Amino acid sequence: MENGETKTLPKSGAMVGGDGPRSYAQNSSYQRGVLIIVDELMDEGIKETLDFISPCSDSSNMCKFRIADFGCSAGPNTFLAMEKIMEVLGIPTVYFAAGVPGTFYGRLFPKSTLHLTYASYSLQWLSKVPEEVVDTKSPAWNKGSIQCSGTAKEVAKAYSAQFKTDMDNFLNARAQEIIGGGLMVIIICGLPDGILMSQTVVGICIELLGSCLIDMAKLVSNNIWLGLFFGVISEEKVDTFNLPLYYSSAKELEEIIKNHGHFCIERLNMLNHPMMKRKIDVQSHISQFRAIFQGLLEAHFGRDDVDKIFEYLAKKLAENYDSVFNVAKHQHVEHFILLKRNIN
Ligand SMILES: C[S@@+](CC[C@H](N)C(=O)[O-])C[C@H]1O[C@@H](n2cnc3c(N)ncnc32)[C@H](O)[C@@H]1O
Repeated sequence: MENGETKTLPKSGAMVGGDGPRSYAQNSSYQRGVLIIVDELMDEGIKETLDFISPCSDSSNMCKFRIADFGCSAGPNTFLAMEKIMEVLGIPTVYFAAGVPGTFYGRLFPKSTLHLTYASYSLQWLSKVPEEVVDTKSPAWNKGSIQCSGTAKEVAKAYSAQFKTDMDNFLNARAQEIIGGGLMVIIICGLPDGILMSQTVVGICIELLGSCLIDMAKLVSNNIWLGLFFGVISEEKVDTFNLPLYYSSAKELEEIIKNHGHFCIERLNMLNHPMMKRKIDVQSHISQFRAIFQGLLEAHFGRDDVDKIFEYLAKKLAENYDSVFNVAKHQHVEHFILLKRNIN
């Protein structure tokens, strides 16, 4: 690294590994499905904007095309995405692949070495929970919620500021690593303009998870014997738990990228994911949630309580299924962004 610093990713932010029934690999068909919708956008976007001369103009770089997937997780999604990109570029699907550990909010690759980068479903993850939202003395303390629901102004301000800092760091690092004329593809969870997280199905599901934690803490504090079943979830633990997750609007993203100044926005589209409205059963919802959030819950509440949390969430979701999924609600969106690194 340029400053000799190795920044690591907290292990808790990782999805469930392996390929077992609870793994991210087995529970990320939704994320995989986005590749079908972005197929055409990637195809025409990359072909129209990539200056094929510049990546190979340096004779020492001849015929080398370096692609990196930031936040690839475990499982097949990264291979399918990389295969798609290579197909668009007309590169044979034979390649040298390597994994690089560390946070993508810092530098991971040498200067001016990447021709195309990709990041899907990873940049809505913040580098950390904004400190104010779990500080009981702060006006931005997010009492009673575990996410940026959008309803409390101070909380939303703290999350938005953290997102901006993280995006700036991401763009700064990539601006160093990507060659002039190189491309960056980003698929990121977000919100339509004017819609709050609390109005979306995903936001309501996260709120339900938060309410499970609050219920469990209340039960334990009211009846010590229930602690034997519900473990050690305390109110204080719940009060200090928030998700490092932020769904941004297109306007917010555009402003951050334009102010940063090293990348030109070639495409910024809001996607309509066809799987958004599919009807799946409670257990499938829980498996998808668990594959994503288990690590964070385990790190905060401990391994023993995680099974109980998800059992309780399954019960609550079954009881509230209609009001969560069948009553018309807003949906979050996925933003597709194609950026081109300015030459200077
Ligand atoms: C939801 S998964 C997305 C995986 C894959 N890109 C896909 O589309 O299915 C998010 C991934 O981003 C990674 N991630 C989140 N924050 C990160 C950070 N600061 N640095 C590196 N990876 C990060 C997580 O560990 C996880 O592997």
